Parts: sequence; structure tokens; C-alpha cells
Amino acid sequence: MPRRNFSFPKDFLWGTATSAYQIEGGVKLGNRQDSIWDTFCRYPGNILNGENGDIACGHYQRWEDDIILMSKLGIKAYRFSIAWTRIIPEETGAINSEGLNFYDRLIDTLLKYGIEPIITLYHWDLPERLQKQGGWASRGVIEPFLHYALTCFSHFSDRVKIWITHNEPWVIAMLGYRWGIHAPGVKDVQHSLQAAHHLLLSHGMVVEAMRAHSPNFLGKIGIALNLSPVYPIDPSKEADQLAAKQYGWMLNDFFLDALFLGAYPKEILAKYPELNQIIQAEDMKRICVPLDFLGINYYTRTLVKGFEKEGQLESEVVALPNAHSTMWEFYPQGLSEIIEWVWERYHPREIMITENGTALDDELSAIQEVLDDRRIEYFQAHLQELHKLIDRSIPISGYFAWSLLDNFEWSFGYQKRFGLVYVDFPTLKRIPKKSATWFGSVSKNNAIAIN
Ligand code: GAL
Repeated sequence: MPRRNFSFPKDFLWGTATSAYQIEGGVKLGNRQDSIWDTFCRYPGNILNGENGDIACGHYQRWEDDIILMSKLGIKAYRFSIAWTRIIPEETGAINSEGLNFYDRLIDTLLKYGIEPIITLYHWDLPERLQKQGGWASRGVIEPFLHYALTCFSHFSDRVKIWITHNEPWVIAMLGYRWGIHAPGVKDVQHSLQAAHHLLLSHGMVVEAMRAHSPNFLGKIGIALNLSPVYPIDPSKEADQLAAKQYGWMLNDFFLDALFLGAYPKEILAKYPELNQIIQAEDMKRICVPLDFLGINYYTRTLVKGFEKEGQLESEVVALPNAHSTMWEFYPQGLSEIIEWVWERYHPREIMITENGTALDDELSAIQEVLDDRRIEYFQAHLQELHKLIDRSIPISGYFAWSLLDNFEWSFGYQKRFGLVYVDFPTLKRIPKKSATWFGSVSKNNAIAIN
């Protein structure tokens, strides 16, 4: 069959995404102070091979080359996060001009190369000083977050038109405060509920504050959620079915209901009545402030098994053996399933795919090439799903590949390679993979070719 070209809408944003702690390194430079990830990485056993983000991709020094590389590839947009610990490193709340200068240079150079900058305010690197006061489990974190976020907004919003408040509040609350596998390493159900609520509330309050600060701001403000359709591993088992529903209520409905409907799902309130003590008057109203767009991070579907613990049904995620990736099952249709469900139920003004990508065992060949055809297949299949949805008039305005560079993949250290660009960690040399050139041409053509 001949190849056919599927075009995307005019002005569709083609970008790559990264986050500060995963790529910057330079943790002692520019007056930066510790975040919870610096301290979490120091505990033996928390990160594979005892690795950390001290050097990461050395982007703090190599940012200009990274921008030039994106520009050469043809990438039109770049989603990055700001390190709170660079902007407000100290307890006093004083603004660190070296921090602002670093991101000023980054933003100005992106614009010079015609790349649209997109800021994520919080991608998991809470200042350690705030964790000492309870972190996201404490309502007291909201004030300092507002101060940090407004400092960034008032300084950068003359040039940056797309803003994301939080990245994946579910991951922060569950992996960070409930299961203890991410920083700050807390294992406490109550704390995780508090963290989830305070993250959402701080989102609502910061959006309100940003709009009040600049009533004429013409850009867009959203949030990025990790969403995934949840299925029972064995649909014939009632326990698995129920466990899947239960898991999905927390993963998807909890955040979406709060943001779009102004209430938590009744099933979650019934399971965790203590939530009612955390919520104060007006909180839910503030959380459901109108959003300009919803960011969706999608990687795979979620398969769940039910089991009983202390007389209660609990859910456990089951990973299928996987030939396609070193992380998760290849399930592109899940992207359509979740977007269709979100669209019908919540009708967001606009949707952006703020992350999508796969980790592979990439290897550098003798002639310094990385032939990652499976990553191209992954992107291609997910973009085909998106194209069908756009055809049905669902307003999807952008797609961000995770990630620009191989980087510090949280508790997996440097073992999982998600980049379009291979990073040789001992030398920090960047080598664009085959997928980087492919993605760049998709971006330049604003179209995918389908066989
Ligand atoms: C997301 C996260 C990213 C990246 C990616 C791949 O959950 O936002 O920082 O690590 O997953 O695992």
C-alpha cells in the first residue's frame, strides 16, 4: 500500500519535554539548595545503583547546545520545568537572581531559535526546607508555593505563553507520600491524601493568583495529569473488576472530578472518610477554577488484580511481560480510550499530550548510531490514535515526546533511556537517535506518514 500523509492542524505544537532535576545537574551551582530529591537519593537503596541527579545530563552548563540541537532537529516547542530551589533557595523567601538569570537565558535563546517555551512550575523537586515542615502533607506549603509560582509568572510571562502548574499530582501523592518509592519517601495513607488535596488546592489558588496578577495575559494555564485506562487482569473475576474500578477512581476520577466538577468521587470519600477533615470551606470551589487546557501524560494502560488485606479489597498493578519496551506494555489504543472518556465526561477546553514515550535498551553502534525503530513505532502508533481523535473534532493542540534526552529516571537512576537523544553519561556527549530525526521531520512536516 502507498504511504499516506496525515496532517495535523495548523499551529499544532510539536515538542519535547524534560524536567529540571532529571537533566540539569549543577546542583551546587547558582546558589541552588537541596530539594527532596537530593536528600532522597542520599539514602542507600532508594535509587538503583545509588545514582543521583548531581550531574544528570549537565544541561545546566550545556543548555545552549541542547537548544541548538532541538532547532536543528526541527522541534517547535520545549516543555521544561523550573527548579524551585534555584529561584527561592532560602527559608527567608528571598529571590535568587542567578536562578532567574539561568531561565531567562534559556527562554530568550529558545525564542531566538523559534522554539516555543512551556513552563512546568512543579515537577517534583520540593525544597528540602519545606519538607522539614511536612511538605505537601502540610497546608502550610501552599503559601511558599504561591510566592515561588508568582515570582516565576511575573518574571517570565512576558515571554512564556503556556504554563503548567503541577506535573502528575497522583505520582507525587502516591509514590512520594504513600508508597515511599519517590521523594520524600513517606509511607502514610493520611499524608498521601493530604498531599493530593494540597497539590490540587495550590493549583487552583495559583491559577487564580496568576490571572489576578495579569488580567490581560493572553496565554494558557493548565495542569499535567498522568491518566490511564484501568482494566481488571481477569475480567471474569469480580475482585479484579472491583479492584480495577477502585484503582481508577484514585488515578483518574479523583483529580479530574476535583478539577472539572469541584468534588471528589463519592467512592473515594466513602473509602477515606478522613478526607472530609482535610477539606476546608471553599477549597473545592477554588480547585475547580476553569483551565485553558488539560495536559495528559500517557504511557500505557493499567492492569489491576484484586486481593484482600485486613478484610479490605486492595488493588495491585500487574505488569505484563513486554517485548516492546523496558518499562511498560505497548498499548497505543489506551491513549484514545482515555481521551474519549475524558472528553465525554469533562469536556476540557483544550487537550495537550504533555508526555508520551517509551524506554528501550538503546545501544550505540560502532559508527555512533542508535537505531531505535521500536521508539519510532511507538510514537507513530500513538500519533495515529491522536490523528483519529482530532478528525472527530476533539480539540487536541499539542504533543510532547518524553523526553528530549536520556536522563535521570527517578528511582531507576540512569538505567531507563527515554530520550530522542542518546546521552553518553561518562562524557555527557549527545547523539541524536534515529527517532530524533524522525520526530523532527514529523514536526517540520506537521504530518505523519502511514503505510
Ligand atoms: C512521568 C514523569 C517524567 C518521566 C516519565 C517516564 O511520570 O512525569 O518525569 O520520568 O514519567 O517515566
